[in-house]
Amino acid sequence: MALYSEKVMDHFLHPRNVGVIEDADGVGEVGNAKCGDIMKIFLKIDDGVVTDAKFSTFGCGSAIASSSMATEMIIGQPVDKVMELTNKAVVEALDGLPAYKLHCSVLAEEAVKAALKDYFDKNNIPYDPAQFPDCPSCASCEMH
Ligand code: FES
Repeated sequence: MALYSEKVMDHFLHPRNVGVIEDADGVGEVGNAKCGDIMKIFLKIDDGVVTDAKFSTFGCGSAIASSSMATEMIIGQPVDKVMELTNKAVVEALDGLPAYKLHCSVLAEEAVKAALKDYFDKNNIPYDPAQFPDCPSCASCEMH
């Protein structure tokens, strides 16, 4: 079996939603200290719905595929649904990642959540800080 699924290769070679949203309503930037990869996600939010999402990822192919898939999954979704996005859901949508690459999908979850937190902060929208732990997916992260 190939190391990477066709979907991972497709999103790596033809990433969706690459770029920057200049007037984004929320921006989240996260990095993984061990591999050095950095992911930035930009969200446009209208009436509680994510109407656009873009990403800039300086990282490995799995990180690029994860960011691409994550943006596809959240565009058109209400904020409370986007809050529930997990790296596991991103990995499933990509038809899997090798175990030692799961942390790349964790970056996507973290970046989306960081962008939502930025949106909440900028708009004085109350939230439970426990929803934004430093690393929301440590249980599934192989890196630390
Ligand atoms: Fe760092 Fe993939 S190796 S995010």
